[in-house]
Amino acid sequence: MELEKVVVITGAGSGIGRATAMLLAARGCRLVLGGRREAQLAAVAAEIESAGGLAIFRRADVTRPAALEALVALACDRFGRLDVLVNNAGIGPISRFDALKVEDWDAMIDINIRGVLHGIAAALPVFRRQGSGHLVNVVSTAGLKIVPTMGVYAATKNAVRTITEALRQEAGPQLRVTEVSPGMVATDFADSMTDEAAKAAIQDRLAAIAMSPDAIARGIAFAIEQPPEVEVGSIVIRPTAQD
Ligand SMILES: NC(=O)c1ccc[n+]([C@@H]2O[C@H](COP(=O)([O-])OP(=O)(O)OC[C@H]3O[C@@H](n4cnc5c(N)ncnc54)[C@H](OP(=O)(O)O)[C@@H]3O)[C@@H](O)[C@H]2O)c1
Repeated sequence: MELEKVVVITGAGSGIGRATAMLLAARGCRLVLGGRREAQLAAVAAEIESAGGLAIFRRADVTRPAALEALVALACDRFGRLDVLVNNAGIGPISRFDALKVEDWDAMIDINIRGVLHGIAAALPVFRRQGSGHLVNVVSTAGLKIVPTMGVYAATKNAVRTITEALRQEAGPQLRVTEVSPGMVATDFADSMTDEAAKAAIQDRLAAIAMSPDAIARGIAFAIEQPPEVEVGSIVIRPTAQD
């Protein structure tokens, strides 16, 4: 089924964002890719175009509200509308509380929570004006099963879960809201980790059981492809081997 939607994805230069962009482009969506590293975004856009799809990109740091406004404006200027915003950008520099990595805590709050709020603030007025729209927020199974080292990360993801549920209740019949909770996915996610012990433990676990980011992309596509009156509220996608 061709989707023909205009989709903005944050954190689209790698991992889940990249896989989602590739899949949605192959399904007929027009993509606007955001992230901080322009070269990564350009590479994804080029890959999409060489496969016959359509993608444009813009450097965007989600900690800045203006960056999200610019991404949404780019979608509207170039493609005439915005159907879906995938708030995917996120980091997970996990550690035990005793490590006192206050800068990492602040960065997770700024990117994982404020970044999503900035996306909502940019997209909501457009969705209201159009009378339709879909917000997809990427959270995590880290918020469903809380484990040591993941306290602050899980807290940021569960803050987004709470925001998503409240927004769903306020949304009304014309706006769809979806949260997607990935389990362990083979991406660059561990790169942001500054605590060497926590990083090594996660990298070992990822090497052992992580699934392809394509699994999450398929989940996001499933939520998007439903008829307009059908809202997929929550999807949890884990590797079978994850406890
Ligand atoms: N991998 C997993 O096991 C897993 C599990 C559950 C949930 N998740 C969630 O999935 C999402 C995607 O992560 P991933 O696994 O695909 O890891 P990833 O490959 O590291 O992707 C994260 C993306 O976010 C972007 N990003 C980070 N900070 C940003 C900022 N300030 N502004 C804009 N973009 C920013 C990064 O690009 P730039 O650095 O270029 O900005 C990167 O492309 C995250 O929200 C993560 O929490 C991942």
